[in-house]
Amino acid sequence: MRIQLFTYQTQLETRTCNCQNLSSQELQVLIMTVSIIGEYLYPLLLPIVLWLFAISLWTYYNNSLKDRSSSCPLPPGNYGLPFVGETLHMVFQGWKFYEQRKQRYGHLYKTHLLGKPTIRIWGTENIQKIFQYENLSLTMSWPTSVRNIVGSRTLSAAVGGQHSTRRALMSRAFTNRAIQTYTIRTEEITANWIAKCCDENSVIQAVPETRKLAFKVSAAILLGVECSAEHMVKLISNINIMIANLFTLAIDVPGTGYHKAIAARKEVLSIIREIIKKKKSYEEKGECLDILSHLLVQCENGHLTHAEVEDGIIENFFSSVNGIPSLCCSTLVHLAKNPQVVEKLHQELKQAELLESDASLTMDNLKELPYLTQVWKEIIRIAAPFGGGFRRVTKTFELEGYQVPAGWTVIYSIRDNHEAEENFDSHADFNPDRWCNNKSDKSWVPYGGKGIRSCIARNYVSAFLAQFVALLVKNSKWELHEANPEFTRFPVLLPRSQLPVVFHHRKAQNC
Ligand code: HEM
Repeated sequence: MRIQLFTYQTQLETRTCNCQNLSSQELQVLIMTVSIIGEYLYPLLLPIVLWLFAISLWTYYNNSLKDRSSSCPLPPGNYGLPFVGETLHMVFQGWKFYEQRKQRYGHLYKTHLLGKPTIRIWGTENIQKIFQYENLSLTMSWPTSVRNIVGSRTLSAAVGGQHSTRRALMSRAFTNRAIQTYTIRTEEITANWIAKCCDENSVIQAVPETRKLAFKVSAAILLGVECSAEHMVKLISNINIMIANLFTLAIDVPGTGYHKAIAARKEVLSIIREIIKKKKSYEEKGECLDILSHLLVQCENGHLTHAEVEDGIIENFFSSVNGIPSLCCSTLVHLAKNPQVVEKLHQELKQAELLESDASLTMDNLKELPYLTQVWKEIIRIAAPFGGGFRRVTKTFELEGYQVPAGWTVIYSIRDNHEAEENFDSHADFNPDRWCNNKSDKSWVPYGGKGIRSCIARNYVSAFLAQFVALLVKNSKWELHEANPEFTRFPVLLPRSQLPVVFHHRKAQNC
């Protein structure tokens, strides 16, 4: 290569010497340029050529993983960098990663994430198919990092018959009666939290404060009363480490986020074990008071193992402390920006005689309020905490003329669905009236549709959100310190800042 370039340089020298139009200075510059290129082009060119070759091999390899028995092509998209795929793009770009690809490719595109060739899917018809294909062509598949950090014996990691049996057992902790009991507890905790925020009389940071609320509420309904302040502090710090490192490459090397998350999981497990040891009675007057008690009863009956109970508690804790701060912060933002909605809610509570100081705001009293229902449905539409769900394809199927091959990962999208104009008119507007007349919509999937994998706690979460909204409106007024707070979307929707807010007691303002 060097010899060829030198020959080319000499030929050029000879040819340019014949050229009368070039001055000797120009000639020197030309010769110098060619010699610099000769010196540096070769070392520069070689890695580029090798790099392009590696990318082509990587693309060829992933394309070869398609199902050859299907006549459909793979969806558009690309696989990113060799081995890491587009994982780093996803981590660094956050939600823009999905946004850009959605705009470029439409409803379906291929990529390579967290070590797996992946197809991301959105569009109401498409994701309804995903829910129908559950257990037929698809199975649950969280990335290895999530499985190892949250636990491998969780409900979401179970498949087939094991999943149906375990889900049926766990569902007993989410009956209407159980949820009514939980909302009696969460009412006191939430009302105290609001009162404390109002007493501050200065700016509070809503993100860390709603996180504290989420931990208190989750400990109360998951673990019961036995969670001490010391346990609480440890749980908060360790679960926060787990959340921060959830979607990482599962390489257990000291110093990595994944390593820290695995150590944090061990700490959380030891706290849960201590709480289980101290738990004296699981039932009171034949009724379980918390989810752990429900699970321990199933364990005593031989339906669940100890490991399944422990992982089940971590899984539920995890979903709860991830999702609830997101919903609470979104509520604060959207209601503050829409005072007419707050006023209408206040009127509804007044008419239902729920503004009296002794009126209880539990699920049974709130579920009949139509405007409140419209408001919480709109909050969770415009601000779905989770972006989507992961599945592994067990049998190739077809979507929109493209193949979704066996062995690949599928990510179905929740948020893209809620933000598509084709599903919700003026989707960016907070408009509870879109839900009037008890309207339902197949495109509204914050809990993962209605399939066998939908959120097991969805009725509890809705009841909690309705209660949070009602208690806020009944007891407080609040102002945002930033007019339009920005939100990050990954791994869960949260304000980018700490969301500074000032609360006031509503009664203190005589209204
Ligand atoms: C706070 C808001 C919450 C939202 C938006 C939410 C949303 C979801 C979604 C979308 C799924 C389905 C995931 C998938 O398709 O892969 C799911 C599953 C699940 N959620 Fe929730 N969740 C929330 C809170 C909770 C809470 C508080 C708990 C427990 C106390 C919980 C327990 C679960 C469990 C156990 C599953 C797995 C169900 C299965 O695989 O059968 N979630 N959740």
